[in-house]
Amino acid sequence: MSINEDTIVEDKAAIDSDRFVEVSYDDAIPNNVDLSSDRQLLKALEGWHPKYLEWWKDMGPEGFQNADVYLRTAVGVDPAGWAKFGYVKMPEYRWGILLAPKVEGRTIPCGRHKGEPAWQEVPGEYRSLLRRLIVVQGDTEPASVEQQRFLGATAPSLYDMRNLFQVNVEEGRHLWAMVYLLVKYFGKDGREEAQALLERRSGQQDNPRILGAFNERTPDWLSFFMFTYFTDRDGKMQLAALAESGFDPLSRSCRFMLTEEAHHLFVGETGVGRTVEATCAAMVKAGITDPYDTEAIRKLGVVDLPLLQRKANFHMSVTRDLFGSEISSNGAESFSSGLKGRFNEANLKGDDHQLTDATYSVTRVVDGKLVNEDVPALRAINCRLLDDYMADCQGGIDRWNKIIEKAGINFKFTQPYKGFNRKIGEFGGHRINTAGELISEAEWQAGVGNWLPNEADMDFINSLMKPNHEPGQYASWIAPPRMGINQQPVDYEYVKID
Ligand SMILES: [Fe+2]
Ligand SMILES: [Fe+2]
Repeated sequence: MSINEDTIVEDKAAIDSDRFVEVSYDDAIPNNVDLSSDRQLLKALEGWHPKYLEWWKDMGPEGFQNADVYLRTAVGVDPAGWAKFGYVKMPEYRWGILLAPKVEGRTIPCGRHKGEPAWQEVPGEYRSLLRRLIVVQGDTEPASVEQQRFLGATAPSLYDMRNLFQVNVEEGRHLWAMVYLLVKYFGKDGREEAQALLERRSGQQDNPRILGAFNERTPDWLSFFMFTYFTDRDGKMQLAALAESGFDPLSRSCRFMLTEEAHHLFVGETGVGRTVEATCAAMVKAGITDPYDTEAIRKLGVVDLPLLQRKANFHMSVTRDLFGSEISSNGAESFSSGLKGRFNEANLKGDDHQLTDATYSVTRVVDGKLVNEDVPALRAINCRLLDDYMADCQGGIDRWNKIIEKAGINFKFTQPYKGFNRKIGEFGGHRINTAGELISEAEWQAGVGNWLPNEADMDFINSLMKPNHEPGQYASWIAPPRMGINQQPVDYEYVKID
């Protein structure tokens, strides 16, 4: 199944009803896992469903629960045609349980069990580690819905509002995907974890979401687009690593989730891209060539490029922390046990997929200096996934730069140094600037306003956040998309607000 989100045509996925792998939509919970044959599981999920709906109504998109939204719903798992489009009220969305097709004869791709048949049941010796991996992944899904719940009110267009809600309902479905695994394979513990997933709250002091970036606020649309480009891409990397799992049901779940994730990344890339486009067009029109002429640029109702860079710096740095410590014995054990692979594990050539003697270069802070050290590759699994992530981020950044270049403006987005603004891992507790220099606390304080969004930046972004809720209306700071969703026009009424 393709996980290449960089193809902007992905929304045109044709609907080819002959090729649908059978999904039952008659059941209360649409699924292709033959749910009706497992009474106990069905009962457990039917018990969870109303609690999920309660959570959705409390913590899902605020103010638009009765709106008719032009959404896609997964109706199959065939990459050539798996979704249908139509108006849905979000609480009536058909959240289903969909697994990618079973690959006959699949074997565990890595670690000490490499080459053994993939597990169809939970391997007893790794039960708690596996459960933890599923819970951590599952926790991120409702967290992002919570973080984004107030954005509808300030949507820059109905097109964007619809994309937000599409992402939200699919994160909800991803939660279903993980809850299915917990409830089916982990008995009472699994049911308790499924319940706890509905109880933690993003940003809440006493019962927060598990990972840091998922407790940050997503206060405005620029944050949303940066989040879907940079943080959903962490999701892509984690799902890709879990898609290599020797535990086959997890692998199949994640493989299908990646198909949906591609749209989230598309929303992020094009959202930032359209923002860049609007800025460049306004600058050209006003005859402004200096991208740092902030005052004049902001007067045009667009976001200056240096501010976009600072926003990107923030989202990149907090997302990098999601990969965990670069050197990690947990990371090593997840890999060695065969529960989680590396990015593209099965396709890595010239590699023994066990890494018993291999080393990997990790940047560390030693005696006040940044040095590269070869460490056992097994212990550097997280570092490697982070490096793969950073490489994966670059494609969209290059395309944003093309837009700027075309407009004849002298500015280029870059990724800040890996250790910039980090709280976790090798760089945590050190002050490092975007260029990759270890600096003092005083130097950090003097420079941070140039590297991360400052208060005036956030006030300005806030001032732009005004609703544009008429079909075909787009906020000044963002260009309309080149094409609509599912070949609809850009002025289509993507959300019918009641
Ligand atoms: Fe997700
Ligand atoms: Fe996502």
